[in-house]
Order: sequence, then C-alpha cells, then structure tokens
Amino acid sequence: MNAVADHDTAMVAGPVLGDGDFQFLRGFVYQYCGIALSEQKRQLVQGRLARRLRALGMRGFGEYCELLRRDPGSELDELSSAISTNVTAFFREAHHFDLLAGELLPRWLEQKREGGRLRIWSAGCSSGEEPYSIAMVLAEALERCGRTVDAKILATDLSPAALAAARKGVYPLERLEGVSPERRRRWFLRGEGEYAGLACVHPRLRELTAILPLNLLHEWPMQGPFDAIFCRNVVIYFDQPTKQKLFRRYARLLPDGGHLFLGHSESMHGLSDEFELIGRTVYRKKPA
Ligand SMILES: C[S@@+](CC[C@H](N)C(=O)[O-])C[C@H]1O[C@@H](n2cnc3c(N)ncnc32)[C@H](O)[C@@H]1O
Repeated sequence: MNAVADHDTAMVAGPVLGDGDFQFLRGFVYQYCGIALSEQKRQLVQGRLARRLRALGMRGFGEYCELLRRDPGSELDELSSAISTNVTAFFREAHHFDLLAGELLPRWLEQKREGGRLRIWSAGCSSGEEPYSIAMVLAEALERCGRTVDAKILATDLSPAALAAARKGVYPLERLEGVSPERRRRWFLRGEGEYAGLACVHPRLRELTAILPLNLLHEWPMQGPFDAIFCRNVVIYFDQPTKQKLFRRYARLLPDGGHLFLGHSESMHGLSDEFELIGRTVYRKKPA
C-alpha cells in the first residue's frame, strides 16, 4: 500500500498520538494491512487519523485504539483508507496498455473459443481509472475481433471511498488527461448543466467491469483463472513476506503464461521464481 507522501504531514491541530498508541497502531496496521509503518510516520498517521477521530466524535487516540482492540474488523477499511493513498490516473504507465492492446488481447482473443472466458483483475483499483482504462482497451479489442467472448474485468479495493468513486464513474474533465481525444469522445459522456466539467464513463465500460470490496490480505472468494492481474502501485509499502505470499497467491490464479503487471517502482526480484520478467514491470507465469 502506498503510504501518504511526507508533504501530507502538515500539522493538524487536534489530538496528539502518543508513543503507546502509535506502537499499537503500527502493530495493528502491519497485522491487518501488511504495511510496515516506520517510526518517522507518526506525524503522518496522527494527521490522517485526526480526521477519522473527528468523524467518529472521539477526543483522543486512546479511545480509537480501544475501538480497534474491541472490534478490529469494524474499522479496518476506514483505517487503511486513511493511511494509504489512492493516487491513480487513466492510462497510468501507458506502456502496459500498449502491450495489452497491441499484443496480448489480440492473441488471447484469437485463442479463445466462441463464448470463451477472458478475465482481468485490477487488484487495488482505487477510484476506477485503472479498470476503466483496461475496459476501454478491452472493448476496442472485442469490437475488432468480432467474436463473442465472455470478457470481464474484476476491480477490487479495500477503500470504501475509492470503491464508491469507482462505482460512480464520474470524473472531472482534467482527470482525463491521459485519455486520447478519440477515446474521450468514444468512452465518456460529458456532463451538462450542474454536471458541466465532469465526464461519466460509457455504460459499455461499466458493463465490462465488476467492482467489489476486497482486502488483498484476506481470503479471496474468486477461483480464477485470470488471463492477467494488474496489481500496480499497491505492494510498494508491503513488507517482503507479505509481497512474497501475495505473489504466490497470484500465481495460483494465473494459468501458465498468465500475466502480472506491477507498478513502476515495484519488483518481484528475489521474491518469486514462478514468474519471468518480460517487459517493464510485466511478469509472465512460468510453466510449472
Ligand atoms: C496508489 S493506489 C493504486 C491504484 C492503481 N492500481 C494504479 O496503479 O493507479 C493503491 C490502492 O491500493 C489499495 N490497497 C492498498 N492495500 C490494499 C489491500 N491490502 N487490499 C486491497 N487494496 C489495497 C488502496 O486502497 C489504493 O486504492
């Protein structure tokens, strides 16, 4: 998970996070979210959680930690949302989408039988820009191939706010910076009147995308197989054992030759021998 950047640590007047509560929160966040918070993150955690405390009507961190001890599950999503960042963009790391559109999708669609199944998972989808970017490329590839394929994108995240935004699928026009003019015209509906300045994703993209809550460190209900998994800019603050375990679990949901996309500063180096690197942060599952 991407912890917030240090410039977010501006002091916010409010409750002070003492050492005991900070140590408890560090342990809790590590156990439940896989994030190893360094000692230096105390100000950051204090600032971020102060908002949450206000929303809960709590006056101090002691009260908040008590809630976590009593009922860890109840606050998990809000806590991890508060300390992680949901930064994302349409066609972020555009080379992944070029590979998908230019090489992988045409090949996979060619190989599928009529009515065959194609599945892509956007794990850590944030507010939807990543799965909808995949959906644009997929919809175009399906149109080009002209065959009936049962294609779907699964988009999951643990942040309730991010999931709500993804489901809404409405973005300020300036968020569409990475989308080509042609795709803007094809895949977005421009808002008018009170919606001026906003763009809504085309119903076809929604139809291709199922958006669901899922903490990657918990049980997964789906069986796979997926043709590809996008897990980009998510594992960056997970510690090594957490990443290792996650990559092993991804390998189980991918067929031989299935693809795993990581973020630009993420790597599998030394963590898994089940994948081979085939491009910039693109991995392919090796045959067993
Ligand atoms: C920086 S965003 C990346 C979004 C998108 N994948 C991209 O690259 O643009 C990281 C996302 O991962 C989600 N996330 C972090 N830890 C998670 C976990 N344990 N389970 C599910 N989602 C998680 C966060 O809520 C956040 O929305």
